[in-house]
Amino acid sequence: MSWTRAVRALALVAVAVAAVAGRADPRLREFAGAYPAEATPTGVVRSFTLRAAPTEIPLLDGRPLRVWAYDGRVPGPELRVRVGDRVRVAFTNDLPQPTTIHWHGVRVPNAMDGVPGVTQPPIEPGGTFVYEFTPKDAGTFWFHPHLRSSEQIERGLFGVLVVEDAVPPPWSRDVVWVLDDWLLAPDGQIDPHFNTRHDLMMDGRWGNVVTVNGHTAERLVVRAGERLRLRLLNVANGRVFAPDFGALDAAVIAVDGLYAARPLPPAGFEMAPGNRLDLDVTIPASARGQVFRVVDRFTRQPIPLAEIAVADDAPVATPQFASPATARVPVWEDGARTPPRAEFRLNARQGGRFGIQWTINDVAFDHEEMEHGSHAALPAATPLPAGAWSHLRFTNESYRLHPMHVHGLFFKVLARNGEPVDEPFWRDTVLLHAHDTVDVGTVPLDRGTWMVHCHVLEHAESGMMTLIDVR
Ligand code: C2O
Ligand code: CU
Repeated sequence: MSWTRAVRALALVAVAVAAVAGRADPRLREFAGAYPAEATPTGVVRSFTLRAAPTEIPLLDGRPLRVWAYDGRVPGPELRVRVGDRVRVAFTNDLPQPTTIHWHGVRVPNAMDGVPGVTQPPIEPGGTFVYEFTPKDAGTFWFHPHLRSSEQIERGLFGVLVVEDAVPPPWSRDVVWVLDDWLLAPDGQIDPHFNTRHDLMMDGRWGNVVTVNGHTAERLVVRAGERLRLRLLNVANGRVFAPDFGALDAAVIAVDGLYAARPLPPAGFEMAPGNRLDLDVTIPASARGQVFRVVDRFTRQPIPLAEIAVADDAPVATPQFASPATARVPVWEDGARTPPRAEFRLNARQGGRFGIQWTINDVAFDHEEMEHGSHAALPAATPLPAGAWSHLRFTNESYRLHPMHVHGLFFKVLARNGEPVDEPFWRDTVLLHAHDTVDVGTVPLDRGTWMVHCHVLEHAESGMMTLIDVR
């Protein structure tokens, strides 16, 4: 039997097993139809080239800021494809360090996940790698290095991958807002001290300048009557945003890529590093000449993020269509009462390269070894059965914030601190505050060895990473 045939036969067995299990497990029946096991290929191939290199961009008052960037831009180029398109990205590393690209939130084949030492060797300076995958899910995703990410992402390496619906609703416009912060030294350049003791002891590196799409005063000019899709993404190393949309008529329609079960009020959403929030915004016909301000309220001092300025021109007709937030999201009532299949305890201790190590179940992930491709140094992966329901628990034994991100699957929050919650949406990243316990349910469909880690990049860099093995 050929290798592909063997794989196909195994896949059929897995489907059969899942079908049998589905009869037994009502949680799987509730899951059916939530998101697909396989892509529906459009037959279209979208080829991109991407080059990471040091460059200079204007920031703030227009002074040149030395950054590392994809294609000379921060944020990097916005890659836009349709769900089911074949995406091919020919990448060149012209950085002074090895790197990789991870496609955050995208269910890619394991070998395309960009985790050095786990799914591919590091891409050395001057090296190239071709990433190729077919997105199975439409939504807002992003890409970033997965090697020394606390330095590489902070220096400007990130970009958005928009996967459009097969038939996108007729929005007046579709806009991406990339939220970030920068820690600038007195000379106006990126503070070159990464993974400091302070960053490690606290919630990572928080900057002294907040930007949206690289600007401190991002302004979107629209016409009255327009209906926008606004895609928000937090690429900061550690900062959490709680965007307040004020008087704007805005509904959350998607979280971490996938559509929600229904449109939701945006109040109270905390956007941790890695999180995305898609909004359906209607500018009333009566709003001519008005300015709507979006402000971050996560910290005590509100931070202006961006404004939407409505032109004085005559209003346009508002596109009329039903909200696409109608996804099938299981409730999984009482799911948190089942025994967890795995628990991830989050804590810190003295030691390691930086003096402090962040740990999962008392193990600190060793990046040095990972970069050198030594599999011996990898922690034992937690096995998760493909196509079956699993209950996972995150327990924060520390006082710090930990946005926990899982590669290769979506999960649903079942309970916080023992209290059942029913979030009508999926996530790939969930924020744990001090001493929080968060229970999640998931049905992993994509086989492979995937990372589980904190998206506070300094925490991840100092060890807060582990692996699951979906099989
Ligand atoms: Cu956005 Cu493993 O990361
Ligand atoms: Cu953390």
